[in-house]
Amino acid sequence: MTRARRVLLIAASLAATAGGVAACGSEGISPKLDPEQHQAAVLFDQRCSGCHTLSVAGTQGSATNVRTREYKDGPNFDQRKVTTNCALYAIRNGGFSSGPMPQNIVTGADAELLAKFLDQVSGSDVHIAPGATTPPDCPPAG
Ligand code: HEC
Repeated sequence: MTRARRVLLIAASLAATAGGVAACGSEGISPKLDPEQHQAAVLFDQRCSGCHTLSVAGTQGSATNVRTREYKDGPNFDQRKVTTNCALYAIRNGGFSSGPMPQNIVTGADAELLAKFLDQVSGSDVHIAPGATTPPDCPPAG
């Protein structure tokens, strides 16, 4: 086989693999999530995706462009790490400020499930340098 032909074959098989990856993952939810995380991602899609970005849940609600930014746009959870306590606090109080996030969009077991999920999956784009201090945790929600 000529060298050029081998390169072509490799290119073709790479293209096929990439196509397969793009096609799977129902509704943009990452296929890597376990069943409990998948359930939380569905909830996130239904209740939080309008304002928050979280790539494992396939949502793009945060502002990506300053010109199309809206007042209600919330933090991007790929770029911000949130702990379970902080997520529960934000869910119960409507964020950390008296901003546009509604209070108690989810409650009880749903809130706990989402908070735990955010603790596990948020901050995927954040690389904390070894030895760097992480922000303090929020008080446990009572
Ligand atoms: C109407 C838009 C809107 C919806 C819907 C919404 N949020 Fe928010 N959220 C915001 C805004 C804006 C902020 C930032 C301002 C603030 O903290 O008050 C925020 C802040 C947060 C924070 C704090 C993040 C940080 O570190 O500052 C968390 C956690 C959070 N939201 C989780 C959720 C979850 C979970 C849901 C779904 C149950 C949700 N939000 C639904 C708009 C929204």
